[in-house]
Amino acid sequence: MSSIPTDDATMEQLRLRVPQVHASTLRDELITDSTRRQVLDVRDSHELGTGTIARPLYCSLRDLAKTAKQRLPDLDQPLCVVCHGGERSLVAAGHLLDLGYTDVVSLRGGMRAWLSAGFQAGNAVVVTPPDDDALSWEAIRDEFPIATRRIPLLGGGDTELSYLDHAASTHPPSRVLEHYSRFMAHDYSNVHRGAHHLSRTATDEFARCYRVIAEFIGGQLDDSAVIFASNTTQAIDLCASVMRKRPGITILTDLEHHSNDLPHRRYGETRRARVLNDGRLDYDHLEHLIASNRVKLVAMSGASNVTGWMPDIHRVATLAHAHGARILVDAAQLLAHHPIDVRPLEDPAHLDFLAGAGHKAYAPFGAAFLFGPRELFDAAPPYLPGGGTATEVTADDVQWVASPDRHQGGTPNIGGVIALAHALEFLEEIGMDRVRAHELKLTDAVMTRLLAIDGLTVYGAPDPHARLGVLSFNVTGVSDPLTAAILSEERGVACRNGRFCAHPYMARLLAAQGGATPATGHPPGAVRASFGLYNTEMDVERLVEACEMIRRKGWKGRYQIRGEHVAGEMAARCNDRWMEADTAS
Ligand code: ALA
Repeated sequence: MSSIPTDDATMEQLRLRVPQVHASTLRDELITDSTRRQVLDVRDSHELGTGTIARPLYCSLRDLAKTAKQRLPDLDQPLCVVCHGGERSLVAAGHLLDLGYTDVVSLRGGMRAWLSAGFQAGNAVVVTPPDDDALSWEAIRDEFPIATRRIPLLGGGDTELSYLDHAASTHPPSRVLEHYSRFMAHDYSNVHRGAHHLSRTATDEFARCYRVIAEFIGGQLDDSAVIFASNTTQAIDLCASVMRKRPGITILTDLEHHSNDLPHRRYGETRRARVLNDGRLDYDHLEHLIASNRVKLVAMSGASNVTGWMPDIHRVATLAHAHGARILVDAAQLLAHHPIDVRPLEDPAHLDFLAGAGHKAYAPFGAAFLFGPRELFDAAPPYLPGGGTATEVTADDVQWVASPDRHQGGTPNIGGVIALAHALEFLEEIGMDRVRAHELKLTDAVMTRLLAIDGLTVYGAPDPHARLGVLSFNVTGVSDPLTAAILSEERGVACRNGRFCAHPYMARLLAAQGGATPATGHPPGAVRASFGLYNTEMDVERLVEACEMIRRKGWKGRYQIRGEHVAGEMAARCNDRWMEADTAS
C-alpha cells in the first residue's frame, strides 16, 4: 500500500471532518442509486486486483488536485472515496472538501471492509479490476447519451437507467447521432445522381453505405447486392418474394421471430424444423426435412430473440447447399453482437441471404438491409415497382433496372441508411470480437447469478458461449408483466416481457421448462433481459439484486394490470391482494 503523507493529528482531524460510511450503507445506496453517489477509487493500479466497486472513477491521490475539477465539474455531485484500508480515502476526501465539493464521504475500512462484509461473492457491487480494456469500455459507454438517462422511481426520486432491452432496439451513440443530424441539417437531399451539389454528395454517401454494409458482413458487391428496406420484416419479405417463383418449399425453424416466419408463409409452402426441450435447434429434424423435400430456401435466425441461442448457421448452409437449397439468415439479433462472415459464394458454407436492421445495431429506427445474390435479385420482378426501379417507361412497357434499385421502389430512408453505415463503422472500430467478448463476460455473469436463484427459470440452454446476451426468465409466483413493471418502477431496469413475437418458440419453451405464472388476460410469457455494448457489471448486479428482491416478494409498490398496462402506486408494504388485480380488459 502507498504511504500516507499525513501524521496522526491530521488523520484525527480528517476523521472529524469527513463523514465515513459503512460498506453496507454504500452498497444499499449504490443499488437503489438514491443519491447518485459516484465512487472515486484512489488506490494505486497494483492494488486493484481485488476488484472495484460500482463504476468508479480512478484517480490517484497524487493527481487528485490537478484533475478533480476537470473530471468532476459538478461540485454538488455526491462522492464516496474508496481506498484499500480507509485512510488514503480520508485524505483524498479532505482534499475534495478543500476544493469545494459539498457532499464527500469516505468508505470506512476501504476495500478491505467491503470484501470482509462478504460483498465479493454473489451480492457485491464489485466489478472486475480495470485494465486498459475495462477503461476503454468506460469511454465507449460515455459515447452513449442514453447512459446518463435517469428513470423516475415509484414513490419519488429517480435512478440511473439500466437498459436491458437491446434485443428490441439499441440506442445510437453520439457520433452516429451527429452524422445523422449533420445529414438532416446540412446535406439533406435526394439521391438522384449527378444533379446539384447536395444531391451528388448524398448520392456518393449513399453509395458508400452499400460498401460499408457489405464489408461489415464479409460480403462482396460484385456477385451479391445490398438492398435497403425499412425493417427486418420487410427485408425478409423481399427475400421471400424474390424466391417466390422458384420451385420448392421453404424450411423454417421453431425458433424464429414472426418476421422470419409469416412473410414466408404468405408466399408459399413452409415446413418447420423442431427445437429440442432446451430451446436448441433439432439439427436431425432439420436435416430430415431438407433431405426429404424439394427445398428452395432454409430461413433461420442467426440468434434467437428469446434465448439468444445461436444455431450453427454455416453447418446449416453447407447442408442446404448440398441439397440445392439457399439459406437466409435473419441477423436482426446477431448483427451488432457477434462477428458475421457471409463468406464467398464458392465456399459451400456461405450465406446466400442475410437480413439486418439499424435499430438493433446502434442506429436510428427505419433503415434495414437484405444482402443476397444479384443473379436471384435480378431474375425476380421488382419488389415494389415505382420510383427509381425502371430505366425506361412507356405507356405499354417498362425496362427494369438491375439490383439494388430494382427492389428499392420509392425514395429510401437516406438519413437512416447513412446512420446505419456509421453505426457499423463504430462497431468495426471497437472490433466485433471485442464486442462479443465484452457481452459474453456479462452473459456468463448474469447467467450464473440468475441460475443460482431458487425459483427463477431461465429459458433455453444455459451455455453462454452458445448464446448472445439475451435471457428470458420467469420468477415463480410472479407474472411476467408484474416482474417487468417492478424491475422498471422500483429499480430502473428496462426489460421487455411477453412472448417477443416468437409465439411458437415461447410455447415450446414454456411447455418444456414451465416457470410461468400467467396474469389474467395475458397469455403466459416471460421477462427478457438483453445486453448491449455499453452495459456493465453494474447492470448485471442491479438485475440480479432486483430479481432476488422480487423472488422474496420484497417490492414496495402495489400494481394493477389492466389489459396491456400495469399501473403502480406506492404502498407502505407489500399487500398480496394488490399484487395483481384481475381487472384485465
Ligand atoms: N424483434 C424485437 C424484439 O425481439 C422487437 O423485441
